[in-house]
Amino acid sequence: MNTYKLIGPFKQVLPMTGLPLNGALKDEQLNFLEGKVGILLQGETIAKTGDFDTLLNEAKIIGAEVVELDGDFVALPGFIDSHTHICSSGSRARDYAFRNSGKTYLEMAELGGGIWYTVTQTRNASQKELEAGIAERSSRHLYEGVTTIETKSGYGLTVDEELKMLRAIQAVNKKHAVDLVATCLAAHMHPKDFKGSKTEYLELISSKLFPILKQENLANRIDIFVESGAFSPQEAKPYLEKAKAMGFSITIHADQFSTGGSQLAVEVGAVSADHLEASTDKEVEILAKSNTIATALPGATLGLGCAYTPARKLLNAGACLAIASDWNPGSAPMGDLLMQAAVLGAVEKLSNAEVLAGITVRAAAALELTDRGTLAEGALADLAIFPCNNYQEILYQQGKLKPAMVYKRGQKV
Ligand code: NIG
Ligand code: FE
Repeated sequence: MNTYKLIGPFKQVLPMTGLPLNGALKDEQLNFLEGKVGILLQGETIAKTGDFDTLLNEAKIIGAEVVELDGDFVALPGFIDSHTHICSSGSRARDYAFRNSGKTYLEMAELGGGIWYTVTQTRNASQKELEAGIAERSSRHLYEGVTTIETKSGYGLTVDEELKMLRAIQAVNKKHAVDLVATCLAAHMHPKDFKGSKTEYLELISSKLFPILKQENLANRIDIFVESGAFSPQEAKPYLEKAKAMGFSITIHADQFSTGGSQLAVEVGAVSADHLEASTDKEVEILAKSNTIATALPGATLGLGCAYTPARKLLNAGACLAIASDWNPGSAPMGDLLMQAAVLGAVEKLSNAEVLAGITVRAAAALELTDRGTLAEGALADLAIFPCNNYQEILYQQGKLKPAMVYKRGQKV
């Protein structure tokens, strides 16, 4: 449908356009429109933004539907969560309680918790049950303004179980208003029941699973957990090079507890290196000099009670910083992207522009999406509309201020 729709007036509209992809941002760089602003949609996309009364006259001529707002509202591009594990089953509340009484994340894995526990729960779930869980979490995110969600597999860890997860993600993507971007994380850990080395497991995945991902169009992105206890950079490199040669984009769970992953990410030309809580000045420099986007996951910091990603240092050094929720039952059970991004901003001293770019235009770049993350003409009409008169209220209220309205591809959800 190519019908026109005018929404407004807004007190402010933040299109998030004209910002550099890399490095520090000042709030003065936000070119927001202010006063009485309208957004004209054409079908699924933004036709233009501008003075509401001028657009209202135009709307009358072209016969656009007018959605007139009463009150103070600020519009932003719908948020993009570029790293989640919302396809999973079961709770790890026990892990959380144990960790808070002194056990580490890696010790919990040895005690029958950790990723493997979620693998057993996820394997026991049917594809339909997984779909129900993804849809429920997607709806929650959507009402909180998140209109695009990256979603990983990685709790199946056999060819068939990984396929079940990715098919569940694609099934929800087809029927849910939200857009899901699938990533294959079959290399999340060395499965305990696999009778062979880590290299043999990776070889099995790349030779048997990768071709099916292509055939069924299940995922264009490959992720791996590079960490002691998961896969070393040496084990990961040939796997990622094979994936790249087959045309997949690469992202890495890097430097979460120890370094090595981010350097590998840069070496293999990964689109993003995510986590980075353990990154030192050396890794910050390596990332800043590369085209690999640094993704901070403050939800994992809050879930595990560990360090924050050195976001300020990364930006000062010239890196591109995205911020994602890492929503998963183990390390990041909260799944509130805006709250987490706001807290990261307060701890790391990030400007509003840096935080908001991290969950919009820079997060889009982390997913290689050029059709969203801004309110530029022609971009998807994904809108997060907040009940306030100034954009600064949004991060100031640290996630408690929720959108009053969300539009996904031009439709109110
Ligand atoms: O991003 N670190 C590896 N993977 C996830 C956690 C997964 C889990 O604990 O279930 C993460 O933190
Ligand atoms: Fe993760």
